[in-house]
Amino acid sequence: MNSLHRIVSGMRPTGYLHLGHYHGVLKNWVKLQETHRCFFFVADLHALTTHYQESHTIANYMESMLVDWLSVGIDPKKSVVFIQSAVPEHAELHALLSMITPLSWLERVPTYKDYIRDLKGKEGATYGFLGYPLLQSADVLIYKAAGVPVGEDQLPHLEVARELARRFNFLFGLNPEFLKHVQGLISHMEPVTAKRYERYRKAYLEKGDGQARQDGKDLVMGLSSLTEGDKECLLGYCEGTGKTILPEPEPILNPAGNLLGIDGRKMSKSYHNTIGLREEPRVVTQKIRTMPTDPARARRENPGNPEKCPVWPLHRVFSSDETQKWVMKGCTTAGIGCLECKQPVIDHMLKEIEPIRERAKEWEAKPNLVHRIVEEGNEVARAEAQKTLKEVKQAMGLFSHF
Ligand code: TRP
Ligand code: SF4
Repeated sequence: MNSLHRIVSGMRPTGYLHLGHYHGVLKNWVKLQETHRCFFFVADLHALTTHYQESHTIANYMESMLVDWLSVGIDPKKSVVFIQSAVPEHAELHALLSMITPLSWLERVPTYKDYIRDLKGKEGATYGFLGYPLLQSADVLIYKAAGVPVGEDQLPHLEVARELARRFNFLFGLNPEFLKHVQGLISHMEPVTAKRYERYRKAYLEKGDGQARQDGKDLVMGLSSLTEGDKECLLGYCEGTGKTILPEPEPILNPAGNLLGIDGRKMSKSYHNTIGLREEPRVVTQKIRTMPTDPARARRENPGNPEKCPVWPLHRVFSSDETQKWVMKGCTTAGIGCLECKQPVIDHMLKEIEPIRERAKEWEAKPNLVHRIVEEGNEVARAEAQKTLKEVKQAMGLFSHF
């Protein structure tokens, strides 16, 4: 993926962000914006698919999320920061894609299957919830994203997006206009080249000959007089898929679970084990000091084993090799006490959180500036989304004159 390729990702405004979001997602976003054109959005429609009964909380989480993003270094000069529902084209593409989405593709997604399996006592699933991966597909396909930073749990959703792109191109890419264009390109090739191209195509489409597919690809890529767009047409024709209207997005996996919560499990709001991104220093200190440790160290003079202690994974993230050695030795020989051991973690966390808190204070003092940034982002995103939607409607044979 080169720097011209777009990256798209979103987050649901269903709670305050914590250090798990920072280490797992946001740091990665901040890095990616240095090398790629990034689109980052608040997925408020996705929040509604599950939190429609608490919809009054969304606005507050959204504001706070935007301030957090800006405070950790998402730079609106580099990235497009916007709100999903402010770009109605997401919802429109969602509706259009729903026409070609087999129900079974959605019903087999683990999030949905698990929900239905554990239904007892809960509300039944909504149409919107079943369509969650479809809306997510629209989110990325509408910007022709090449890469989508996500956690492992989101891979099945991205797989739906990839399958949908393929299906869409197959159904609507092979239209008469496309075929005419390809015929024109072939007639301009050297006759021997044209013959070879037709032969490869036939061998691949009729006999599934993988080598022929590769040879066809090499041949097209070697035609230096053609534009990228024309090459893409010839490749699409050769593979029988037609024009690539919606490219297939690749997942970019977030560094998985590298920050555990204060109970040793994955840091997550639902486990009540988080350290907030803007947590008060006093609260951070207290949360770490009261963390459970290796039960073998019930008394100061009992040696312990860091591998059995939830503080250890935090040292692995925050502490230098030297400090880690000090912990290992001090713990196993009862040379240090647990509070002593926890202090460097507390210090590092505070050092990480402090500048974020300061910048957040500054952004919070300028709500109008935050709104202006988002409004600009909405406009930029919308213009891009409209371009794709127009192509999509044209390909599907719908009204798309303006
Ligand atoms: N489903 C994602 C999550 O819960 C949020 C999301 C919505 C998203 N649309 C997206 C992520 C598009 C990446 C791309 O984390
Ligand atoms: Fe955990 Fe550190 Fe105590 Fe060992 S010394 S049990 S690693 S807190």
